[in-house]
Amino acid sequence: MKIGGTPYRTIWPNADGWSVTVIDQTALPHRFETMTLQSAEDCAQAIRAMVVRGAPLIGATAAYGLAMALRADPSDASLAAASALLAETRPTAINLRWALGEVAAAVRDLPPSARAAAAYARAAKLCEDDVETCRRIGENGLKLIEAAAGVKEAGATVNILTHCNAGWLGCVDWGTALAPIYMAHDKGLKLHVWVDETRPRNQGASLTAFELGAHGVPHTIVADNAGGHLMQAGLVDLCIVGTDRVTANGDVANKIGTYLKALAAKDNGVPFHVALPYSTIDWSMKAGVGAIPIEERSADEVLKMTGRLPDGSLATVEIAAPGSPAANPGFDVTPARLVTGFITERGNAPASEAGLLTLYPERRAS
Ligand code: MRU
Repeated sequence: MKIGGTPYRTIWPNADGWSVTVIDQTALPHRFETMTLQSAEDCAQAIRAMVVRGAPLIGATAAYGLAMALRADPSDASLAAASALLAETRPTAINLRWALGEVAAAVRDLPPSARAAAAYARAAKLCEDDVETCRRIGENGLKLIEAAAGVKEAGATVNILTHCNAGWLGCVDWGTALAPIYMAHDKGLKLHVWVDETRPRNQGASLTAFELGAHGVPHTIVADNAGGHLMQAGLVDLCIVGTDRVTANGDVANKIGTYLKALAAKDNGVPFHVALPYSTIDWSMKAGVGAIPIEERSADEVLKMTGRLPDGSLATVEIAAPGSPAANPGFDVTPARLVTGFITERGNAPASEAGLLTLYPERRAS
């Protein structure tokens, strides 16, 4: 996607053939800055600090991190140590472990001298595949937006609510939940997006709004608590969110607050769609509620906020009663029964084990 007319991806290999550059998402929307990652430790730190975030992008970054570790030391011990280092950076998104597994599988049986090149090739392919996968998710989700437009008066605006950032900044390009929105907008459909601010880190207000604004998609940032009211008032035609892990029965882990939006959507008869690539499905986990590991992040993210001062400098301020403790679960799990359907690169299906298996029949037990 473009920023100021220049096409960007969120991660790209450098001319040196071994380091990568990423967009520093902790500086957005106030500053557009990039960061060069040169080692597995750099990649792990970028994921931990959320310089890069979003399930597909942390997978892509981890894949390159493992390649960098093998360039430095291609031994089995290095492969195991770097995989463990990168895997423990964030626990909820399954794409991270999936991507590490893909790179490990590509190199494990090779002689050490051939491992780094094979790992870089696998990481690059994984990024290319992610772009194509997200493009297809966009095409499939577009059908749902067109259907929503079809039941409204001709020319009426379709209102979509989204949570967190499941746009191109969370992937390599296009995004998952936002890809259908970009395609519908580019096709000339009249759209408006309600953007949940997504406390405590404000991925909606700072990243989703930034992306949509850069592409010219009409949108409005709302406080996280506004969604139920908007749905009751008939101001939301459909919700589309991304996900960090979908279990075999269709339960959905996503940014904290997603579950509340799904409850409100169910109560108000608003379709609630989840967009995902195949790499987000955890087939090994039967059901998600109480089972998917939920990342607990620093209390500081709840107790403080960072923003831009009138002089342009950034500042972090305390917003809570001094001395009060805070808890900060980063994700929640929405039971499949609250999800209208999945949007994937293979098509759309009900959020259930049967629905997933119609899209991925090769996963049926033989
Ligand atoms: O904590 P984050 O910003 O990494 O959380 C991201 C989300 O919850 C996204 O919705 C999800 O990863 C899908 S990104 C295409």
